[in-house]
Parts: sequence; structure tokens; C-alpha cells
Amino acid sequence: MWYDSHIQEVLIDQASLEARITELAKRISADYAGADLLLVGVLKGALLFIVDLARAVDLPVEMDFMAISSYGAATETSGVVRILKDLEASIEGRHVLVVEDIIDSGLTLNYIVEHLRNRGPASIKICALLSKPARRRVDVVIDYHGFEIPDKFVVGYGLDFRQRYRNLPFVGVLKPEMYQENHGK
Ligand code: IMP
Ligand code: MG
Repeated sequence: MWYDSHIQEVLIDQASLEARITELAKRISADYAGADLLLVGVLKGALLFIVDLARAVDLPVEMDFMAISSYGAATETSGVVRILKDLEASIEGRHVLVVEDIIDSGLTLNYIVEHLRNRGPASIKICALLSKPARRRVDVVIDYHGFEIPDKFVVGYGLDFRQRYRNLPFVGVLKPEMYQENHGK
């Protein structure tokens, strides 16, 4: 494949992603049985995850999306978050499950959850595919959690480096030279 020469290591392969998402979907289906569930995907990183999760959940869910940008360096979050695209519908009185790709410092998610809580949802929970506990700066309770990973910058399955690699079917680490400033320019 085009990316074979870019990848140093596959951390989570496609079969493991599928198996774990099926498990999470089973728990979500049981926990929200009979409820009106709204999946809120955080663009763009959570795109592949939310699509596969929604397909695996045995419930009539709705999906909505938010896009945010954080100020600061490319691979670090400052905690100051700007909403680029807001939800289309009201979440008042609804059961909201925020679907995120990765919780790193936790600052982004913390901001999103506080922001959404002010809009009066019936409940708000968090589903994150990946978590890097070593880098946490604020406490976040992850209700549905895919994998804990080491403190490495990962790409694939929605996660990008400079907007690329989101379409890899696995989560992996790039070769060091791929992270160089001028690579591919
Ligand atoms: P936090 O606010 O530090 O938790 O940052 C979370 C956001 O940073 C995620 O939603 C990702 O968009 C991005 N991010 C954090 N770690 C990685 C990574 O290893 N690869 C790609 N994006 C990452
Ligand atoms: Mg994200």
C-alpha cells in the first residue's frame, strides 16, 4: 500500500479495532436501550470511529458533529478551544454521547463537555477510542474507552499528521523522517 514505507509500527491493527468497537457498541446498546441517543462526533478525528461505532450499535441513533480548533503548536493542545462548526440541533433533554478519537491532555474534551453541559442535555457521556494517560492534564471520566496507548504521536483510523494518514485502516506510528518539517513538500 502507499503508506507501507511511511509506517514505523502498527500499534492497533484493523481486526483489533473492529473487535473492540463491537464490544463498546454492545455495552452502549445495552446501556441506552429504549433511550433517544445522540452521537456527537468531534471532527475530523472521530469520523472513522463514529461511523463504525454507529453501524455496530443496535439502536436507532442520531448523529451530529462539531468541529473545533485548538490554538497552539501542531502536536500540543493549549486548552483554548474555538468552535468552528457547532451542532445543528438542540441537545436539550437528550442523551448525548460525545465520540472522540483520542484523549491526550484532556483539555479539548473537557472544554467540549462543559460547553455542551450548559445546554441542558438529559445526560452526557464520553466515548473515546484512544487514551494517552501519561499526558493527562485534567481529569476526564471516559465512560466508553477503546485502548490505552503509550505517549507516542499516532496516526490512522481518523487521526492525522498535517491532515494526512486519516484513511489508514489501523493506528500506527510514522517513521521519524515523516514528521520532518519539509517532508513531502
Ligand atoms: P487534548 O486536548 O490534548 O486531549 O487533545 C486531543 C486532540 O489532539 C485529539 O482530538 C486529536 O485531534 C489531537 N491529538 C492528540 N494526540 C494525538 C496523536 O497522537 N495523533 C493525532 N492527533 C492527536
Ligand atoms: Mg480530535
